[in-house]
Order: sequence, then C-alpha cells, then structure tokens
Amino acid sequence: MTKKKVVVLSGAGISAESGIKTFRDADGLWEGHDVMKVASPQGWKANKELVLKFYNDRRRQLLEVSPNKAHKVLVTLEKDYDVHIVTQNVDDLHERAGSNQIIHLHGELLKARSTQDENDVVPWIKDIQLGDLCKKGSQLRPHIVWFGEQVPLLDKAASLVSKADYIIIVGTSMQVYPAASLINFAKETAHTYFVDPNPSISDRKQLTIFAEKASTGIAKVVQHIQDIVA
Ligand code: APR
Repeated sequence: MTKKKVVVLSGAGISAESGIKTFRDADGLWEGHDVMKVASPQGWKANKELVLKFYNDRRRQLLEVSPNKAHKVLVTLEKDYDVHIVTQNVDDLHERAGSNQIIHLHGELLKARSTQDENDVVPWIKDIQLGDLCKKGSQLRPHIVWFGEQVPLLDKAASLVSKADYIIIVGTSMQVYPAASLINFAKETAHTYFVDPNPSISDRKQLTIFAEKASTGIAKVVQHIQDIVA
C-alpha cells in the first residue's frame, strides 16, 4: 500500500528549544542587527566582513546545539508515512534528528557557495573568511537565500505541498514570502496542523491548532494522525 503523504513546514520555532533564537520573537536573533545589513545582497556588497562574521557566529552556535524532541518525534512518522520536511531553517537539526527527506528553502548554514555560480555549493563547517575562493576563483559566501533573492526550491516545495494528505506547520510566524504562501498549494482535503505558541492562521478547513511549544505540540500531532488512521 502506498504511504500517505505528510509535509512539514517548519520555521525557527522548532529549533527554539534547542537554543537557537527565533527571528521575530522579543529576544530575536536580529536584535542589534539590521536585517538588510546581514542578510541581503546589498548588505553583502557593502560589508562582506560583517556578513561573514554574522554567519560564522551562527555556524559556531549551531555546532554547539542538538536536535530537540520535536525534531526527533517527526522522524517516527516516517515508519508509516511518506514524510517531507520543507524548512525555512538553515540549521541541520532535522538532518541530525534523522529525517530523510528535507528541503531547505532558505539555504543551509553548513554549506558555502560561489559568488559567481549559485550552483557551485560546497560543505563548510568552519568560518568562511575573506579570500576563501570557489574553484573558479570567486569569493565564497554563505549558502543562504537572502532577502530579495530567488528561492530556487520553491516549485519543488509547492509540488510536495499540493500532494500532501497531512500538513504540519510548526514554529513559523508565516510572515516571510514566498515560503508563507506554500500553504495555498494544499488540497482542500488536506488535514492541517499548526503548532506554535502564537499561531498566525486560523481560517483553514480541517485545521487543528496546538498553541504551544513544538516539543509537546508535535507529539500531539503525531498521536492525532495515528489516531485518525487507527
Ligand atoms: N515552539 C514552537 N514555536 C515557537 C517556539 C517554540 N518553542 N518559540 C517560538 N515559536 C514561534 C513564534 O511564536 C513564531 O511564530 O516560532 C515562530 C518564529 O517566527 P520567526 O522568528 O518569524 O521565524 P520564521 O517564521 O522561521 O522566519 C522565516 O524569516 O528572517 C527570515 O529567512 C529567515 O527563515 C527565516 C524567515
């Protein structure tokens, strides 16, 4: 029997309990940083050192944290379902928890890419320094989708969402487009869950909201999906 399809749309909130700050909460990551200075092509052009330092700090922090219960419980769904994770997060906590099908809409912190060829992407776990070059001789930059840049994996993500039987939205303020628009590709019959202490959508059919932290909320979602089938 073919497995039913689950798509998880995750945002910064799923990694909050691992110790990575979210973007738009009161103690958000961007506090003290003008987003456009550290996460835009203009910011990069104006001050590469600042941008590299910003992401080098994020990368060092990532190497010190671990997946939490929410990341891990999602993996258990793979036994009975075809699960795809579509994450806005640039951390690798879904991978480390053991999820097998992951799309990083906004790039990955542990990769670098050429500034002349966006498809020339290499693994990178140390600091990126000015002078670190790609094979063709251009400066390397973080493999991150900055504000104003295209989201190359959007179509693939939209296609997955359009086929999903269950959609689990977790830990995202749904404020950043086009990622936030992915839910519009869902089938009307898809059962949607939203796990977030401050859920920002309430107007979908077949929507179940768990207004709580990811660790407890995701466990309830998984239980709920299993109960529907039982
Ligand atoms: N569990 C679940 N959700 C949580 C938790 C938690 N423990 N703590 C906070 N949240 C929720 C907040 O209520 C908020 O809705 O996580 C969400 C975080 O929202 P944002 O900080 O806006 O993060 P996100 O939606 O992932 O941002 C999208 O913005 O800056 C860009 O590219 C960056 O990918 C990022 C994008």
